[in-house]
Amino acid sequence: MTKTFPEKIYILGISSFYHDSAACILENGHIVAAAQEERFSRKKHDPRFPKNAIAYCLKAAGVEINNVDYVVYYDKPFMTFERLLLSYLTTAPKGLRSWLEAMPLWLGKKLHIPKVVKKELGYDGDVLFTEHHEAHAASAFYPSPFQEAAILTMDGVGEWATASFGFGTGKDICLLKELHFPDSIGLLYSAFTYFTGFRVNSGEYKLMGLAPYGTPLFKDLILSELVDLKEDGSIRLNLAYFDFLGGLRMTNRKFSKLFKGPPRKSESRITQREMDIAASIQAVTEEIILKMANHVYDETKLKSLCLAGGVALNCVANGRILREGPFEKIWIQPASGDAGGALGAALSVWHRYLGNEKHADGTDDRQRGSYLGPVFTNQEVKAFLDHNGYPYQNLTPANRARAVAEKIAEGKIVGYMAGRMEFGPRALGARSILGDPRKRDTQTVMNLKIKYRESFRPFAPSVLEEDVSDYFEIDRPSPYMLLVAKVNRDRRFAQPSQNELPMLERLKVKRSDIPAVTHLDYSARLQSVNKAHKADYHEVISAFKELTGYGVIVNTSFNVRGEPIVCTPEHAYQCFMRTDMDVLVIEDFMLLKEGQPEWKEDGDWRNELELD
Ligand SMILES: [Fe+2]
Repeated sequence: MTKTFPEKIYILGISSFYHDSAACILENGHIVAAAQEERFSRKKHDPRFPKNAIAYCLKAAGVEINNVDYVVYYDKPFMTFERLLLSYLTTAPKGLRSWLEAMPLWLGKKLHIPKVVKKELGYDGDVLFTEHHEAHAASAFYPSPFQEAAILTMDGVGEWATASFGFGTGKDICLLKELHFPDSIGLLYSAFTYFTGFRVNSGEYKLMGLAPYGTPLFKDLILSELVDLKEDGSIRLNLAYFDFLGGLRMTNRKFSKLFKGPPRKSESRITQREMDIAASIQAVTEEIILKMANHVYDETKLKSLCLAGGVALNCVANGRILREGPFEKIWIQPASGDAGGALGAALSVWHRYLGNEKHADGTDDRQRGSYLGPVFTNQEVKAFLDHNGYPYQNLTPANRARAVAEKIAEGKIVGYMAGRMEFGPRALGARSILGDPRKRDTQTVMNLKIKYRESFRPFAPSVLEEDVSDYFEIDRPSPYMLLVAKVNRDRRFAQPSQNELPMLERLKVKRSDIPAVTHLDYSARLQSVNKAHKADYHEVISAFKELTGYGVIVNTSFNVRGEPIVCTPEHAYQCFMRTDMDVLVIEDFMLLKEGQPEWKEDGDWRNELELD
């Protein structure tokens, strides 16, 4: 259906009620704003109706809810309900408890999305729905720089689908095939996340980070007992080992028996066993994804690939698709999890439902660096600092980058907040904590004294886009920190094997001339910084290069463990004062820790955060 409209068309996309609720608004197909609810509500992965994110999107677009032409929800709840019902009936009465636990939310909200939207927003119009994987596919293809591309989506589950592939061309997306629940690469990875003592739907990243410490000793066992992997990349899970159909846990006793012991208790010591299990499931996952990518290429014969769905955040696997797969180019949606469903659903309405063409130039994407969230002006920041009496230095355009870079080069840990907040789970220099990559102990200091998180976790480098190949084995930009590449050989130092030194000792060994961002296997999850998309950040790294010769710095998200990334100056100041961070930069203001008034809070704030 093609329509012509005289006025601007506003489309509001919503994802909610599973994990990571979000909202996005389009104006004539242009992405005006997108944000996750957690950044406003301060509850990590907040699954509730994203009323704060919606309010922000409307404000950014300068419209009221009843000026919005289409509201679209990223999932078809009745189809998901049908899956839950059938899953329950298959295992009944075993799954009764989880069924009863899930029911109130279903009966109260999930099955009544239009009513919820009307009640929460006062919206009078109809609500449209996309299928879950259609939303992921749209979020992958439409913002991509390609006019034509293959599409692969992979996640835990959405309605029935756990993966899908097809292709996009212009305004059209055609999905050719789906893999269905319970055969899911996302649920498989989550089962191992649970088994190794991390939190499902958020600890997957840690499992991936842990993998290089281990040896994939169990890979063959997983492929013979748990997963039947076909040549086309589709899988069949052996449900005798899993409990997610009817149970409240991901794995069962038989699974524990296979791995010769129970799941690790969360927060207990991580042993070599967990590291080997992590290496094994990571290796299996990469094999599955590579087979899927090869199959998608065989079926579509297209040169470019777009990826989305929670599994597309596995940047180690993405790096392998790029290096070993058949595609010349790949583009990955930075908000690949369900938050990105809000964006995909909205774009799907613009292109598929309203029939508007897509015009891509082959190089620039439409995500605009994913800097799609709230921004605070210098006046607003100054008013906040003055009102609270927090001492600061005023930076000018002439000295700003140099002043920040000097602090980093002195070994200081700098909280950095500038410009619009990122959409998606990664901090890309708008809400980041920065450090010196040359120092061996930056990783330990940042993990233990700033983020209060597990010491094994690696940090990512932000590198000038034009210098990316000087440091890493990669020949293209990686603007969204979704690709892993090795540090160049001439920068690496030899290191002891796992038999010679235990994990925490190996962490202390210098692995390259940028040790703070070099993982145990010499890999790095890099972000290339583009001058046009993020001028302030590019200037800081350039100034650091002038001072040190290195066009690369450490970048980690601006938050502590269990807390969503900061959004406002208030959040940033609070995080700065709660941790051992040395310097805080908000827009053109620099605050030093010494000189700040004493920070007082009732009780221990760490008890309020749910550890992820
Ligand atoms: Fe999903």
